[in-house]
Amino acid sequence: MSSKKIINIGIIGCGRISGHHARSIVTTNGANLIAVCDLDYSKAEFYMKEFGVKGYINYREMLNLHPEIDTVAIITPSGMHYEHSVEIITKYKKNVIVEKPTFMKPSQVSDVYKLANENNVQVFAVFQNRHNKAVQRVLKGIQNNELGKIRTIAVRVRWCRPQRYYDLAAWRGTYSMDGGCLTNQGIHHIDLLKLLCGEITRVSSSHRTLGSNIEVEDTAVATMEFKNGAIGTLEITTAARPIDYEASISLVCENGLAQIGGIAVNELQVYTPDENTCKLNSEDFSGNVYGNGHAKIYQEIVNSLQSPENKFPVTSEDTFSTIQLLNAFYVSDENQQWVEVSKVGDSKRLGREDNTLADLYRIK
Ligand SMILES: NC(=O)c1ccc[n+]([C@@H]2O[C@H](COP(=O)([O-])OP(=O)(O)OC[C@H]3O[C@@H](n4cnc5c(N)ncnc54)[C@H](O)[C@@H]3O)[C@@H](O)[C@H]2O)c1
Repeated sequence: MSSKKIINIGIIGCGRISGHHARSIVTTNGANLIAVCDLDYSKAEFYMKEFGVKGYINYREMLNLHPEIDTVAIITPSGMHYEHSVEIITKYKKNVIVEKPTFMKPSQVSDVYKLANENNVQVFAVFQNRHNKAVQRVLKGIQNNELGKIRTIAVRVRWCRPQRYYDLAAWRGTYSMDGGCLTNQGIHHIDLLKLLCGEITRVSSSHRTLGSNIEVEDTAVATMEFKNGAIGTLEITTAARPIDYEASISLVCENGLAQIGGIAVNELQVYTPDENTCKLNSEDFSGNVYGNGHAKIYQEIVNSLQSPENKFPVTSEDTFSTIQLLNAFYVSDENQQWVEVSKVGDSKRLGREDNTLADLYRIK
């Protein structure tokens, strides 16, 4: 019998993506789902029945009644991740698993990792597309120089999010709680850009709202310069109609083209150095646009909590640079000019304070 510590997890927020967490927890060796919580009890009830766990409306009650919980998955509206993480870390001293986009502002990323450090707990940022086979294969080809030097990069996300999607909840489509297509949908591809191609030095970005009546951008087009000399473009929209078409990243490199496409960067469509690898490294995501990465992330979380030498791959520096880059696109659009990513602070719009909205997601 293994003597390794079991990681006891509680979930806050039982909405659309929470099933990927709950199912991943119950199927991960070394992880245990203790309780779930949602302001809407009927959503918690769903998992109470499915997994035989306790359910709550108030996460403070959940944490007080279950001191055995050592790790909390924060799956609340994006603009609440910061407030919820700060409380869970400082008052309850728990590790936090935070859904994308982690936090809205680079300053919030710094704050939370610092607090986690001071309280001797960890922060686990969720970027599950990193685990797509196609992404891993291209990363390997870059790391072992099979692809050679990267010359150009193109990100293209053409998804359909109609008005009814934004009307699902008050937080959607707002700068304070959600951000637009870059923050909600594109954050995955922004993270992958950095993972695959390294540091981005300068960006110039233009944003529009073209398909829905929302305050945030549903369309963004940007040009990027990379430290390694490559240049790239990014086109992200949720104003495609009437269906989702693609989320792709392609890299023109010294030794050929690497093109990852499909609905969610899940198909290796072209890989010049070894065309035979394409089929092997493509996954079918039909009916599951979120992919299969959450289970792999939970295994990494358990490994890292059981043995500190197993470092969780998304470091604080990683999360900071992703959110700084995200904010750089907004700052460029706000100032209508190229911006140096490393000098960017918080965008004026993203994650701006809105207590009326935040009060909907606070416990009284
Ligand atoms: N990794 C991915 O691919 C992925 C996909 C979808 C969503 N997400 C992220 O997950 C988060 C949630 O998204 P969603 O689509 O599930 O949203 P959702 O609106 O469906 O669910 C959010 C849930 O949080 C609950 N909630 C809010 N405040 C709470 C509180 N104080 N206590 C308990 N419950 C509370 C709400 O009642 C709601 O049920 C967002 O940050 C989003 O960006 C990630």
